[in-house]
Amino acid sequence: MKGIILAGGRGTRLHPLTKATNKHLLPVGREPMLYHPIRQMVGADITDILVITSTEHMGDVVNCLGSGKELACSFTYKVQEEAGGIAHALALGEGFARGEPICVILGDNVFEYAITPYAQAFVRQAKGARVLLKEVGDPERYGVAALDEKHVIDIEEKPASPRSSFAVVGLYFYDGQVFDIIRGIKPSPRGELEITSVNNAYIERAELQYDICVGRWTDAGTFDSLLEANSILTESENRILPHG
Ligand code: DAU
Repeated sequence: MKGIILAGGRGTRLHPLTKATNKHLLPVGREPMLYHPIRQMVGADITDILVITSTEHMGDVVNCLGSGKELACSFTYKVQEEAGGIAHALALGEGFARGEPICVILGDNVFEYAITPYAQAFVRQAKGARVLLKEVGDPERYGVAALDEKHVIDIEEKPASPRSSFAVVGLYFYDGQVFDIIRGIKPSPRGELEITSVNNAYIERAELQYDICVGRWTDAGTFDSLLEANSILTESENRILPHG
């Protein structure tokens, strides 16, 4: 499986911290934020990794990460020229993926425990997509899953009246259909190609499965969540915990 880390976007919610640098280069614990999704992927044996970021920060990201040798992986880089949404960024990975299954992590997501069991579950899954859900106190900030006894039946992006408290976290597994699916989706009212539209397309095909995230999880896109990300990774000294 190949890995794609999305580190574009504008990071405006963290101004002035992100005026001169990319959100994903801010410190979390003892390392730049981007090291965490990379360490998660490498821990799950995903070592061929594409990093996508904006034009203005690509130089800094390459200076920080290099070839991948130090982190026991190999990087490819791609520029997203405008912040057209998560699915817009992901579309840039088509040539890199070459039809293989992919693991996608949003560069501002932090997980207390290893993602390895979720990756292994996806490998066992014959086709389709796999997402990770986490019960949260403020679901209106996220993509929110509506569930029946067995399946995710719908995902709504930042709903005013959430149908559950299960957020869809920023870790996604997709088969080779994902790029055709992205070609078929339309921009949302906020003008972005949403990853939620991609996941809903898999639901329509009855090909979306899920796991529940074990341990603490946060994104680091706001001041409060950046503090929580720092708390998780400071306590562990940036180590990722193995499952029981
Ligand atoms: O963190 C989980 C949430 O992430 C999900 O629950 C939502 O469904 C999903 O839409 C996303 O919501 P956010 O509003 O937090 O997304 P944000 O715009 O902050 O982007 C998250 C990451 O995606 C960001 O760290 C960099 C990357 N990104 C984002 C955009 C808009 C890109 O690479 N390019 C982009 O154009």
